[in-house]
Amino acid sequence: MNFWTGIETLRGQPKQRIADLLKDDNRNCRMQVSAGAFMFDMSKTTLAVDALDTLLGMASDLPARRDAMFAGERINQTEDRAVLHTALRGQDAVMVDGSDVMPGVQATLKRMRAFAGDVRDGTFQGQGGRITDVVNIGIGGSDLGPAMATLALAPFHDGPRCHFVSNVDGADWADTARHLDPATTLVIVASKTFTTIETLTNARTARDWMAETISDPAAQFAALSTAEDKTTAFGIDPSRVFGFEDWVGGRYSVWGPIGLSLMIAIGPGNFDAFLKGAREMDAHFRTAPLAENMPVLLALQGIWHHQVCGYPTRAVLPYDNRLSRLPAYLQQLEMESNGKGVTMAGDPLPGPAGPVVWGEPGTNGQHAFYQLIHQGITPVPCEFMIAAMGSEPALDHHHRLLIANCLAQSEALLKGRGLDEARATIADRFEGAELERQAAHRVFPGNRPSTTLIYPRLTPEVLGGIVALYEHRVFVEGMMLDINSFDQWGVELGKELATSLGPLVEGGDASAKDASTRTLLAKLQAWRG
Ligand code: F6P
Repeated sequence: MNFWTGIETLRGQPKQRIADLLKDDNRNCRMQVSAGAFMFDMSKTTLAVDALDTLLGMASDLPARRDAMFAGERINQTEDRAVLHTALRGQDAVMVDGSDVMPGVQATLKRMRAFAGDVRDGTFQGQGGRITDVVNIGIGGSDLGPAMATLALAPFHDGPRCHFVSNVDGADWADTARHLDPATTLVIVASKTFTTIETLTNARTARDWMAETISDPAAQFAALSTAEDKTTAFGIDPSRVFGFEDWVGGRYSVWGPIGLSLMIAIGPGNFDAFLKGAREMDAHFRTAPLAENMPVLLALQGIWHHQVCGYPTRAVLPYDNRLSRLPAYLQQLEMESNGKGVTMAGDPLPGPAGPVVWGEPGTNGQHAFYQLIHQGITPVPCEFMIAAMGSEPALDHHHRLLIANCLAQSEALLKGRGLDEARATIADRFEGAELERQAAHRVFPGNRPSTTLIYPRLTPEVLGGIVALYEHRVFVEGMMLDINSFDQWGVELGKELATSLGPLVEGGDASAKDASTRTLLAKLQAWRG
């Protein structure tokens, strides 16, 4: 069935309330799925089993398309590239242009392990001795993955301190450098293209800062890039350049050289476990029947909420403080991948592609934006996640509260609170018209969808599995929408215009710009003096 015809059919069908759907004893066996260390529950949604079967029927092309990705076919058609981030964590041969990519992947991983080991054990030194601090300079996919994962895996962090500088706003560099000793700092310049203006500006500033106190700053620089000619031109010795191929998309690149800062932080062994967790999720995605396939089900309920129900956003709500950068990571992964307006063939999409993705860890979000999630007019599908155990055994009473809060939120979203109940809670304080007025404010509509992903504890392996799960979810959604999830042309125009505006900020002729831009520029220039 054509995707949009299927969506139209589903839109027209009456939706049952979640509470009624949950009365079906068999619902859990279709709406809850396990894979390795994970269990995913999507039973608290309005997706009924027959609608799920319709969506599964619409995914009949998926196995062939999935296998094409893993086999190295050039599925990124607008850039004529294979999509093989899975090879960075894989073990089996994958052929691209007639040769197996795995020996190259393994060789780079081996060099990364050796370098990370040298930095961690003091074999590699700065001018002032052992490396105490590592600064990863990169942006987007060259920042978010290692930054998110290094924070997430803080209990495993036994290497030098790691910092992440991404923004071209000088405040980012200044606030980081303030605490560093240039003589014991290693700077890693992470840029797939090595042309990104933010990264190169920060890298030059870092080099100048080091040059003020040490004689050979380049000796304390490493680079992660596909463009070795450019890293060499920057002055970084090839022995400290870790390359990768153009079949690794920026937002999918944490598994290879872009993960070097993470590897230095947690050690090669824990990094291997991170890869292993992802590899296990890959194996599940490749072999589990579609109806029991976790990334497929995560994607289908996403399509149900966005394309069928028309909910414009979804919230990712990890009840795990160390996953506080996960929503930002997933924003890039999902919105840069599936925020598209045309099909593979270049035709306008008949409906919306990817939703807005946002979120914050619980319980903090409960005291900020959950008000809107519970009582706002537009439902926000919530994707909760929580570990059975925290990493602080002595603080297990905190973790019990965390679990109780996480489950309470999905229960509250499901049940809501009707007018009678709202009235009963305040009947001792108000009466008459005032009782009715006050009660109306205390009604929760309920029937609000949520899913919950649970796992035993946040370890490197589990984090690898979570990230791979979301990567494959993005793939499934993009494939069903017939869009290219692996290009990002939408970021180009802004980059071009920033380049043209640069000289105007310095006082160049702005007459070709629109009236709004001209006025803003003039005012900013006036204030700059
Ligand atoms: O913002 C666009 C983008 O190309 C992202 O896709 C990418 O992750 C980021 O910029 C950084 O690019 P690079 O690694 O080439 O510096």
